[in-house]
Amino acid sequence: MPRDLQCLAHCLEEIRPFSLRIYGTVDSTNNLAKKLIQSGVPNFIAIVADSQTAGRGRRGRQWISPPGVNIYTSIILPKECQAPEIAVGRPQLHPLLASVVVCDTLRSVAPEVGRETGIKWPNDILISERKIAGILVERTSDGSSIIGIGININMTEDDFPPELRERGCSLYTVTGRRFQRGEILKEMLRGFRDILGITVDDLLREWTARSCTIQTVVKASMPDGHVIKGVARGIDREGRLIVDAEGERWIINSADIEHIR
Ligand code: BTN
Repeated sequence: MPRDLQCLAHCLEEIRPFSLRIYGTVDSTNNLAKKLIQSGVPNFIAIVADSQTAGRGRRGRQWISPPGVNIYTSIILPKECQAPEIAVGRPQLHPLLASVVVCDTLRSVAPEVGRETGIKWPNDILISERKIAGILVERTSDGSSIIGIGININMTEDDFPPELRERGCSLYTVTGRRFQRGEILKEMLRGFRDILGITVDDLLREWTARSCTIQTVVKASMPDGHVIKGVARGIDREGRLIVDAEGERWIINSADIEHIR
C-alpha cells in the first residue's frame, strides 16, 4: 500500500459506519463499486484506488488518474433511509451532499485557500475558478447510490494535459505544499459520517452558502445543445439550478455551466 495511505489502516473507529477497501490500480472505482454491490457487499463502504486506467467523469469524459498523487474513491450509500426529510434518503441530492463534504474537507486541510474554495453547480469543486475535484454519482439497478470522487492532490502543473492546465489545479499547485492522501480521505469520511443526518432544508442552505454559482451570470449548455445565458438564482429541492434567462425562469436538471461574472 502506498505510504501516504497507510494511516487509513488505523482509523477505522474514527470513520465508522464506513469501512474501507484499498486497491492499487483499477479501471474505475465506480465500476468496482458496481461489481461489489452485485456481489452483495454491505453499504457504507469507501473504495479507494491508487490509480485508475479508465477513470470517468460526467458525460462520459475521461478523468485523469495517474498513480501516487491523487484521490480516487467511490462511496456506497444505503438504498433507503428512515425519514423523508433526511437528505441522504434522496439520491438526487447526493451530488450536493458530496460536494459540501469535499468542499469542507479541502477548506479544512488547506485553510490558506479556504476563501477561494467553492462549489460550482452541481458538484464541481473549484479553487479560484479552477477545478480541483469532480464528483460522479451513479445509481445501480437495485437503487444503491455510488458517489465517485476524484480530488487532485499532489499533481504538478506538468502532470496536467496541456488542455486542462489553465482550467484545473491540485492542492499542490495552489498551496505549494505536499499532502498525505490518507489524512485527507480520513477527514472526508468523517465529513460523510457527520452529514448523514442532515435534513433537506439544511443541506440546501449549506450547499448555497458554499456555492460560487449562485447570483452569478452563467452560460448553461444543455445536453440537447441549447445554450442560455442568465443569472443563477438558486437551487430547488431536487437540486436543480434555477436560472433567469431570456425573460424566462429555467429549471435546469443537467447542463454544463460556465461562470461569466
Ligand atoms: C466530473 O467532474 O466529471 C466527475 C469526475 C469523477 C471522477 C471520480 S474518480 C473516482 C470515481 N471513479 C471514476 O471513474 N470516476 C469517479
